[in-house]
Amino acid sequence: MPYVVTQSCCADASCVLACPVNCIHPAPGEPGFADAEMVYVDPDGCVDCGACATACPADAIVPHTALAPAQQAFAALNAAYYEVFPHADRRPLATVPQQRRLTRPGPFRIAVVCAGPAGLFTADELLRHPEVSVDVHDRRLTPGGLVRFGVAPDHPGTKQVGELFAAIERQPGFRYFLGVEVGRDVTHDDLVAQYDAVVYAVGAAGGRRLGIAGEDLPGSVAAVDLVGWYNGDPDHHRLGVPLDHERAVVVGHGNVALDVARMLTRPATALEHTDVAGPPWAALSRSRVREVVVLGRRGPADAAFTLPELIGLAGLDDLDVVLERADEYDLLADTERVRILRQLAARPPRPGLRRIVLRFRTAPVRIVGGDRVVGVEVGDGEVIEAGLVVRAIGFRPQPVPGLPYDEVSGTVPHDGGRVRPGVYVAGWVKRGARGFIGTNRSCARETVAAILDDLDSDRCPRPVGTAASIARVVAGRQPDAIDLAGWQAIDREERRRGSHHGRPRAKIVDRQEQLRVARRQTDLPEAPRRYAGPRAR
Ligand SMILES: Cc1cc2nc3c(=O)[nH]c(=O)nc-3n(C[C@H](O)[C@H](O)[C@H](O)COP(=O)(O)OP(=O)(O)OC[C@H]3O[C@@H](n4cnc5c(N)ncnc54)[C@H](O)[C@@H]3O)c2cc1C
Ligand SMILES: NC(=O)c1ccc[n+]([C@@H]2O[C@H](COP(=O)([O-])OP(=O)(O)OC[C@H]3O[C@@H](n4cnc5c(N)ncnc54)[C@H](OP(=O)(O)O)[C@@H]3O)[C@@H](O)[C@H]2O)c1
Ligand code: SF4
Ligand code: SF4
Repeated sequence: MPYVVTQSCCADASCVLACPVNCIHPAPGEPGFADAEMVYVDPDGCVDCGACATACPADAIVPHTALAPAQQAFAALNAAYYEVFPHADRRPLATVPQQRRLTRPGPFRIAVVCAGPAGLFTADELLRHPEVSVDVHDRRLTPGGLVRFGVAPDHPGTKQVGELFAAIERQPGFRYFLGVEVGRDVTHDDLVAQYDAVVYAVGAAGGRRLGIAGEDLPGSVAAVDLVGWYNGDPDHHRLGVPLDHERAVVVGHGNVALDVARMLTRPATALEHTDVAGPPWAALSRSRVREVVVLGRRGPADAAFTLPELIGLAGLDDLDVVLERADEYDLLADTERVRILRQLAARPPRPGLRRIVLRFRTAPVRIVGGDRVVGVEVGDGEVIEAGLVVRAIGFRPQPVPGLPYDEVSGTVPHDGGRVRPGVYVAGWVKRGARGFIGTNRSCARETVAAILDDLDSDRCPRPVGTAASIARVVAGRQPDAIDLAGWQAIDREERRRGSHHGRPRAKIVDRQEQLRVARRQTDLPEAPRRYAGPRAR
């Protein structure tokens, strides 16, 4: 009974290290790992010990016999990988890698700007060094970045990576300053003066623009706003999302486009036990949308969505999925992706269900409307009628005050994460808006190696601040800042409210209410706990 990796994999490779027989690949360091959509269990090597399932923070691995009907395709997908890459070497990888140690005595205090996956993985890598303490600043009152405000609520397994973040937060030497916007409440110069090193992991908040007429009409919405809306981001919870027309159009063929199309078409019952925010769930329950047309400018073989997400979509029995503008030649190739698309193309229509249309080789030329969107022109005068258009065409990091910025790539130029000694980047602001949650782990490791090199060679400018002085600066500039105890109070309250309805949490979507809940538990950020000896990992 081999175990099988399913679609909600986030590629952080905890399972690979846990496997006693080295039968999960690609492993870190192997060709293809950095860009892997997922990892694969070799069914012939698996000894059925379950260690991988226990290690996986995303609940992505299940025994073969426990696969839901919609997950069956993953068994073949896992096995197929080993037909191409047999991986004859079966020595276990689960040896404890030698831990690098700093050669200069600390203490060193490091600011990590932001509590998304890249920031928290960076903090985790830094806290392996007992001489280091880390302050994580984020402009939101809740950590997790896109795991909380991006990942689709109908992927609850992926959201479980939040448990891993909670373990990182509890480590000695970790301190939060939440609700603190760097660039507004504290400046780059403040941070550089206060800390031995500053790491920016601010993500890629800017949605790309289509640059076509009608883009800003009411009813034309950027995916970054829509995903924030259904995920209960206080910045977006008042977004007006017109759901009164029977058709919506999503532009883009990436994974975000598939997330949005699913969320707009899944029945309300499929979402009621997720962490979807309450008001959007109510709006989606009343939605008149019956069909979402997803426009991609390329052919099926080149679409940006990944195979695990396509398998997941094809496996949903509460949706009809059809292809348009995929001709017979597109569907000849002998790849797993094309096999799934062939199956979809051959599937009889499922009347009565809501529908996602994956339309290829189609780009919008104009968004049509007066007071609001009424359709999308796609060339040759064809207009697809719709009441909502979602632009899911990727994200772009914003410039960070005090740091250089490359307009072409939209990232901060760096060398292995180092912008200059004392200033570093990690995550999407470093690599651009691509990759999975786990990709940020290896990205953070590279950045932390550069920080350790600079601390060891005494290249970082010496700070003038102390742990107490930065707390005073923050308290003076942003009285609404909260600490770990404040976030834990919000977390507890959300879980408590959710438990009444069989949901993982009921998100508090109003910032003032978040503050009230946090304040019941906390005052100003407490002084950091000092290092008290080696910790168990
Ligand atoms: C809609 C969507 C769905 C996704 N779903 C999945 C999925 O299912 N599985 C998967 O593996 N990957 C998924 N991804 C990719 C994954 O979310 C990213 O790889 C990851 O979040 C990038 O991490 P990051 O830390 O660089 O950025 P982010 O997660 O964006 O975190 C950036 C943080 O910076 C903070 N911030 C920004 N500016 C400032 C400032 N000036 N001061 C203080 N704080 C600031 C923000 O509040 C945020 O907390 C998804 C991405 C998107 C967009
Ligand atoms: N479940 C998951 O694992 C998950 C979920 C969500 C996101 N993510 C990851 O997060 C990252 C970002 O995802 P994303 O979907 O935002 O970006 P993406 O993968 O880059 O996809 C962007 C899509 O928009 C299209 N596009 C770009 N500019 C366009 C234009 N001007 N006109 C028409 N179409 C245009 C692209 O087409 P071209 O391909 O032709 O450029 C592509 O289809 C990806 O790495 C993704 O895998 C993962
Ligand atoms: S999420 Fe991580 S631990 Fe889980 S299957 Fe993917 S790589 Fe393995
Ligand atoms: S069940 Fe055990 S042997 Fe099989 S892949 Fe998981 S860790 Fe490896």
